Amino acid sequence: MPYSYLSHLHCPKTNVRYDASQIQQLSEVGAPLLVDYDLDALRSAWKPTDLLGREASLWRYHELLPVLDPANVVNLGEGFTPLFRTPRIGQDLGIDDLWLKDEGIIPTGSFKARGAAVGVSKAKELGVRALAMPTNGNAGAAWSLYAARAGIEATVVMPQDAPQITRLETAISGAHLYLVNGLISDAGKQVAEAVAAGGLYDASTLKEPYRIEGKKTMGFEIAEQFGWRLPDVILYPTGGGVGLIGIHKAFQELRALGWLPAEQPLPRLVAVQASGCAPIVKAWQARAEASEFWPDSRTVAFGINVPKALGDFLVLRALYESDGYAIAVDDADLLAEQRKVAELEGAFVCPEGAALYAAARQLREAGWIRAGERVVVLNTGTGIKYPDTFAVDVPLLQPGERLPR
Ligand SMILES: Cc1ncc(COP(=O)(O)O)c(C=O)c1O
Repeated sequence: MPYSYLSHLHCPKTNVRYDASQIQQLSEVGAPLLVDYDLDALRSAWKPTDLLGREASLWRYHELLPVLDPANVVNLGEGFTPLFRTPRIGQDLGIDDLWLKDEGIIPTGSFKARGAAVGVSKAKELGVRALAMPTNGNAGAAWSLYAARAGIEATVVMPQDAPQITRLETAISGAHLYLVNGLISDAGKQVAEAVAAGGLYDASTLKEPYRIEGKKTMGFEIAEQFGWRLPDVILYPTGGGVGLIGIHKAFQELRALGWLPAEQPLPRLVAVQASGCAPIVKAWQARAEASEFWPDSRTVAFGINVPKALGDFLVLRALYESDGYAIAVDDADLLAEQRKVAELEGAFVCPEGAALYAAARQLREAGWIRAGERVVVLNTGTGIKYPDTFAVDVPLLQPGERLPR
């Protein structure tokens, strides 16, 4: 049995096929390329029971990942993150069957490790020696560290305001790191210029086809961890939207393989954004096909500060097809939820993850999330990476001083 059933790439705008054995970036019409597998061959060759006993990482799904030769896999133990019930915050929200998929414990501290692991492994397989990318912090940290492990040179440009820890994570890997006094969109223009000058693989979000494949494994895991019965709703903090596109793709692939009950509808996907940067929400409300650039974007949930996403049309498509929703929440609300989730569940989620609880509260109150529904919150990183988003006032004792009662 082959390690991967990779077949080819295609452009979701024109359906033109592209060769997956060559380095590819965007399609001729400037759209992200999607990865296709030989699902017909895989259907008869692969069964859910084949997963039993495999390693607890995203590579357990290697048949549906693009790396052809296992020798090219760059692995830091990413994936197969915990999915557990959160009854106390669930009760607070009025959602009894509320679950947390926690990406905070993954290498590099955020789910960006998934996209980086698969993206860097495939880059290595294709012979890439040097890559470049803009980032809001977490992706740059993850890609730099995986690139270091693969022996690939990385150049990263991030906003000056990105969380300090991601700057350190990127720099310690030996990557060429530059800060920009601007947004990720400004960093993106600088990277595009450098790539145009030659010699660099463009690892910008969705300008290479493989990070979606890494992120889609969150969908495989949710399905497997629930015994191949999907939840009703999944909430996702949406910046570039890669994870949401990936999860939707994962469910379609599993359905094509016949691994999901045919009668069960796919989960309703919810794109959660911040009210200071909500281009997808605005487009979804207008039932538009694509979003518009969001000027002066700002939010403490740095990872979702993306004023215009290249794959916006794919995110919107996933929302329409899954009968989903797009919603924006205020920074003050998400910060309040972050504290509440730590107090009630002992989970220190990142601000992006905390935004999902603020959204779930609104959607439950509005009745869009119905009583008894199974809801999954996808916390995309650890709160430890964002020490500046909350403050504590702690009493200082002198040695020998008694604790107040
Ligand atoms: C913690 C965190 N959550 C969510 C996102 C948004 O991810 P996506 O681009 O898949 O929408 C990011 C992106 O930087 C992030 O770092």
